[in-house]
Amino acid sequence: MSNVYHINLSASQIEGAKTVIVPGDPARVERVAQTPPFSNGRFLIQKREYCSWLAYVDEVPVLITSTGIGGPSLGIAVEELAMLGVKTLVRVGTCGAIQTNIHVGEAIITSGAVRMEGTSSHYAPIEYPAVAHYEVVHALIEGAKQAKVSYHVGVTCSSDSFYPGQERYDSYTKYVPRRFQGMTEEWRQLHVLNYEMEAATLLTLASTMGLRAGCVCGTIVNRSRSEAISAEALSAGETAGVNVAVLGVANLIRQERQ
Ligand code: URA
Repeated sequence: MSNVYHINLSASQIEGAKTVIVPGDPARVERVAQTPPFSNGRFLIQKREYCSWLAYVDEVPVLITSTGIGGPSLGIAVEELAMLGVKTLVRVGTCGAIQTNIHVGEAIITSGAVRMEGTSSHYAPIEYPAVAHYEVVHALIEGAKQAKVSYHVGVTCSSDSFYPGQERYDSYTKYVPRRFQGMTEEWRQLHVLNYEMEAATLLTLASTMGLRAGCVCGTIVNRSRSEAISAEALSAGETAGVNVAVLGVANLIRQERQ
């Protein structure tokens, strides 16, 4: 089989990997590949926002491929990863918490996502739920316990925009269209935990394709307190998310071998 077009990988290059970790940020891929219990991580290829490394858990290959920001580029990655034979996808990202009891550096494991993005509606009507696979949710919870990372499990809001769709007033115009004004408080009342930009697309596409998927995000800001994201907060959130994701994926791989 030749290389799939955007992520530019072939089935032989990924050595039959059935599991992939999908960070948004290409710069996070190497870090994931080199975090224990992953071993022997090596760079495969980069094209546009799609950077891929291969690593191993107990000699089982695991692919790590970045998706870029947002649903459209993530959707392309999911399509092409599925063509290569991947069956389980775990997103590791960063997010803004909206519940007051969630702190920077804590992990949020998504059980389901509000589809406030466009790509998933190209795959399934809006009534179709964006839900994480229960086995992935369970493995990530165990991963958080093993990593000793404080975690929360619940509903995520995935937005197609970082500024207006997450009701940020620190944008260029400082204007949030009326449809989004007051929305953060509404999601808070509805027990939504966090904002990010990819979970709903991933979970919807994976379910429609009969694949397993889940998502863990490190909290890098609490939107009840601030809109600004500090370098320290980014580092704390990234560390939490990556540690939970690698241990969660190792749990999935080890369970499959039992
Ligand atoms: N990613 C988002 O989409 N929103 C945040 O607030 C932080 C990370």
